Amino acid sequence: MKIAIINGPNLNLLGKREPGIYGSTSFEDFLSVLQQRYPTVTLHYFQSNIEGELVTEIQRVGFDFDGIILNPAAYTHTSVAIGDAIAAIKTPVIEVHISNVHAREEFRKLSHVSAKAAGSIIGLGLKGYELALDYLLNK
Ligand code: DQA
Repeated sequence: MKIAIINGPNLNLLGKREPGIYGSTSFEDFLSVLQQRYPTVTLHYFQSNIEGELVTEIQRVGFDFDGIILNPAAYTHTSVAIGDAIAAIKTPVIEVHISNVHAREEFRKLSHVSAKAAGSIIGLGLKGYELALDYLLNK
């Protein structure tokens, strides 16, 4: 089972970035715990601050991986290109947001990803990535 986790801009700063909203755990620390918890799954992690790189990675893994867990961060709310990339591929995508975007600023309520994703997990912190993984493994 090959699962890609793709994170968008500023998520490389998790642990340091607005900890009141995003928590104080770095994604690398979280990922190593997740990998230990699911030793039989190949987790492939990619993070970029650049929109086109995220599109390229979605295309790259989008035909032979078993699932994609995607947090496009701020590009969720602006990127038609990421939405189109999800529509173009075969691999199911689960959209994850650490914070509850519906309880924040108005502009965060729009997602170019939700309608193209198999489902979305919003506002449950880093636990959302684990729930998405659990879904992909058991669906
Ligand atoms: C986020 C929510 C986005 O609105 C924000 O731009 C992010 C992170 C989240 O995981 O809560 O960078 O996707």
